[in-house]
Amino acid sequence: MRISMIGCGYLGAVHAASMAEIGHDVVGIDVDEHRISALAAGRAPFFEPGFEEVLSRNVASGRLRFTADISAAEGSQVHFIGVGTPQTPSGAADMTYVDSAVDALEPHLGRCVEGEEIVVGKSTVPVGTAARLAERFDAAGTTLVWNPEFLREGFAVKDTLEPDRMVYGLPADTFRAEAATAVLDEVYAPILATGVKRLTMDYATAELVKVSANSFLALKISFINAVAQVCDAAGADVTSLAEAIGLDARIGHRFLRAGIGFGGGCLPKDIRAFQARAAELGTGEALDILAEADRVNLRARSVVLDKARQMLDDGLDGARVAILGAAFKPDSDDMRDSPALEIAGLLAAAGARVAITDPQAGAILAEQGREGLEVCETADEALRGADLAVLTTEWRQFTSIDPVRAASLMRRTNVIDGRNSLDAGAWKGAGFSYMGMGRR
Ligand code: UDX
Repeated sequence: MRISMIGCGYLGAVHAASMAEIGHDVVGIDVDEHRISALAAGRAPFFEPGFEEVLSRNVASGRLRFTADISAAEGSQVHFIGVGTPQTPSGAADMTYVDSAVDALEPHLGRCVEGEEIVVGKSTVPVGTAARLAERFDAAGTTLVWNPEFLREGFAVKDTLEPDRMVYGLPADTFRAEAATAVLDEVYAPILATGVKRLTMDYATAELVKVSANSFLALKISFINAVAQVCDAAGADVTSLAEAIGLDARIGHRFLRAGIGFGGGCLPKDIRAFQARAAELGTGEALDILAEADRVNLRARSVVLDKARQMLDDGLDGARVAILGAAFKPDSDDMRDSPALEIAGLLAAAGARVAITDPQAGAILAEQGREGLEVCETADEALRGADLAVLTTEWRQFTSIDPVRAASLMRRTNVIDGRNSLDAGAWKGAGFSYMGMGRR
C-alpha cells in the first residue's frame, strides 16, 4: 500500500521505517530539512537501538523515502500524522504542529486511485482533537481514524512491530467506521496476524486511552518514589518492598523502580496536558492526583541534593561531583525533561564542580555546552578526583563499574545510587559510603 507519514520525529521516523519493513511503499515527510536529509541517507537522527538497520535497509530497497515536500503525500491511500505536541508554558499541549500538518495535507487529499483513502492520527493530543479534525477531513471526503502510539524509547521498533494492543478511534457513522477499519487492518495485517488485540472505540476514548496509560505509569513511579521517601525516614528498603508488593499480580513488578523519577518527552508533558484539558472540560479536580504525582516526581530530584549535602558534610561548595548519566533513561540520547540533567544543574547551582558523562547523550551535551557542567567522554574521566559519584541513568556501562576501580580514581568514596541499580554491598565493600533512594 502507498503510505505517507507526516512528521518524522521519534514516532514518525520509526513508524515510517516499520511500515516499510512490513512491505509498504512509504514516504516520510517533515519540515525539518536536516532531519529529512539524514533519514533519506539511511542515517538515524537520534539514538535508538535497531532503528538504523531497519531504516537503511528500507531506504536502500527503495520502499522508504523522505522529503520535505508535502505534495509527495498525494496519491497515498493512508496518511499517518505523527507530529509533536510539545508542552506550552501553561502545561497544555501545543497544537500548532498538528494544525499546520492538517492545513498542509488537506489540499493533497482525494487523489488516491487504489481504494478508500484515510488519515490516521498518531500524535498524543488533548481529547476532542480528533472530532474537531474529522469535520475538516469529512469535508474532503476522507475518514479520520485515531490510532495512538504506545512505543517506548529504546524499544521503539519492537514496540511498533509487536505492540501490546492496537487502538482504533473511529467516527460514529458505522459505514465509514467499518470502511476505515478495513483499510487500517490491511496496513497492519502482518502485525495483526500475530494475534495482537485490536480494540475499536470512539475518538474521545481512543485519545484518552493514550494519556491515561501514560498517566497510570507516572502514578506508579511516583507512588513508589513517595514510599521510598518514607522508607528513607523509617530505615526501610524500598527495593525489597517493591519486590514484595509486586508479587501480587494485581500490582505487578513493572514501573516500581524507585529512584530519581520519570522524565523524557512523554510522561511529564502528558500528565500536564491531561490536567490542562480536564480543567478546560470543567473536571480539573478529578486529576489533582496527577498534580501530586508531578510534585513527587520533581521532589525526587531535590532529594538527591539533600542526600549529597548529608554525604559531604563539609559542604558542596567546590566539591567535585561525577554525574553518571544525562539521558532520561538508558539506551536513549534523549535529554528532554531529564532528571539527570536537572540534578546536575541543582548540584552546580549549590557550588559543586559537576563532571557529567553519558555514553550517547554526552556528545550532544558537549556540542550544546551547558553552563557549569564539565562534559566528560568517559566515566573514568568524570570519576577522577571526585568527592561524590551520583548514578543518574542506569546505563549498563555505569552499573557494571568496578567499585574498587572507582575508589582508586576518586578523591573521596561517596556514592548516591539515584536508580537503585548498583550492587550496594560491593560498593560498601570497596569502602564507599552508599546511599540509594529509599534503600538502607
Ligand atoms: C513512555 C511510555 O512507556 C510509552 O508507552 C509511551 O508511548 C511514551 O512514554 P518512554 O518515555 O520512552 O515511554 O519511557 P519509559 O520507559 O516509560 O520511562 C519513562 C521514565 O520513567 C524514565 O525516565 C524512566 O527512567 C522512569 N522510570 C521508569 C522509573 O523511574 N521507574 C520505573 O520503574 C520505570
